[in-house]
Amino acid sequence: MEALVVRRLGDPTLAPGSEASPFAEISRDYPVPELSSPTAVRVRVAATSLNFATFLQVQGKYQERPPLPFVPGSDYAGVVDAVGPGVRRFRSGDRVCSFTGLGSFAEFIVAEEKELFLVPEGCDLIAAGALPVAFGTSHVALVHRAQLKAGQLQISLSATHQSILRPSAGVEVGQPNIGSLHALNLGEADAPNQASVATRTRSMAATASVWAASVEAGPLVLLVLGAAGGVGVSAVQIGKVCGAVVIAVARGPEKLQYLQSIGADHVIDSSKDNIIESAKFFLKARGLKGVDVLYDPVGGKLTQDSLKLLKWGAHILVIGFASGDVPIIRANVALVKAHLAFAALRDRKAVGKVMIVMDASVKSRL
Ligand SMILES: NC(=O)c1ccc[n+]([C@@H]2O[C@H](COP(=O)([O-])OP(=O)(O)OC[C@H]3O[C@@H](n4cnc5c(N)ncnc54)[C@H](OP(=O)(O)O)[C@@H]3O)[C@@H](O)[C@H]2O)c1
Repeated sequence: MEALVVRRLGDPTLAPGSEASPFAEISRDYPVPELSSPTAVRVRVAATSLNFATFLQVQGKYQERPPLPFVPGSDYAGVVDAVGPGVRRFRSGDRVCSFTGLGSFAEFIVAEEKELFLVPEGCDLIAAGALPVAFGTSHVALVHRAQLKAGQLQISLSATHQSILRPSAGVEVGQPNIGSLHALNLGEADAPNQASVATRTRSMAATASVWAASVEAGPLVLLVLGAAGGVGVSAVQIGKVCGAVVIAVARGPEKLQYLQSIGADHVIDSSKDNIIESAKFFLKARGLKGVDVLYDPVGGKLTQDSLKLLKWGAHILVIGFASGDVPIIRANVALVKAHLAFAALRDRKAVGKVMIVMDASVKSRL
């Protein structure tokens, strides 16, 4: 089979042939991987995407350094080619996607059944091949860490302490987080109804015998940095699905236009606009007080500026450092855990993810 084989590490942004560039070649007789267990599935790869991790791996800068030679590649989509005797959920011809540490820049890849997702009808394989890393990362960050949920409004009870609040019927108290805002999931039906939010809040505070000096309700504000990049685009989309007001930061008019087309409520060009002024102007016009969730795959000065827009108790989701500059976040503003740290990728022109398509018959608008 065909596979892209990395034989020497190096900086892939340098001209091929120079000493510091990597040496990678397409092998046309790379062995087709065998089914490695009874529950293994072999997939004929239709599309695989280029991730930041791949860029680091080829330079030997990723946390895992595979021995040379290796076939890079992480997320992919394709069609099931063969299954082990213990496989129950898939059969030949099924359309699947997944992600892996290595090996998707090849015609075939083998995965365990439990690592694969069925691609639903209506989703093309190129889109599915870009999904697992970017959308998986943003889903974990926004939905699990920051607790964004569809239909969510936030309620701020001043002078209260979440540990003494108890959920009442139909009201779910967010993750305990002393000293932070209290995010309550009120469900789709109640989401737009501020009066109902206030009533429930008052009754909850009363039940818990808590003094609530003021009650404010409104949508969560999500600020996405590097919003036109792979994880950024997915964060904007997931944020909108969760009902957040999304402020997207990127560089260049084409990227801003794209971000508006996928639903961003406000876009800021960080290559020319002052992000603090622009965001404050927008927030004021909407009657919003600040940012509740900062999604940060960029780092550097952009992070430092963004901290000035946060409301008290906001979540900071540290996703990566695409700028190459790891920011210092003072302990008094840091409330949420970091994910993984990476190195720089500069002068990126593309919007979203770079895709390698192995099957010309699949079409995508990505
Ligand atoms: N924690 C995790 O599990 C996880 C998973 C995936 C990725 N990541 C990390 O997240 C980061 C982004 O990944 P990605 O796949 O989205 O990469 P990407 O597609 O290359 O996007 C990176 C974005 O960062 C922006 N950027 C880079 N340097 C910048 C600078 N100096 N100032 C302002 N913006 C800058 C670029 O903005 P423009 O478009 O405006 O040029 C680009 O869109 C990487 O560090 C990656 O390692 C982490």
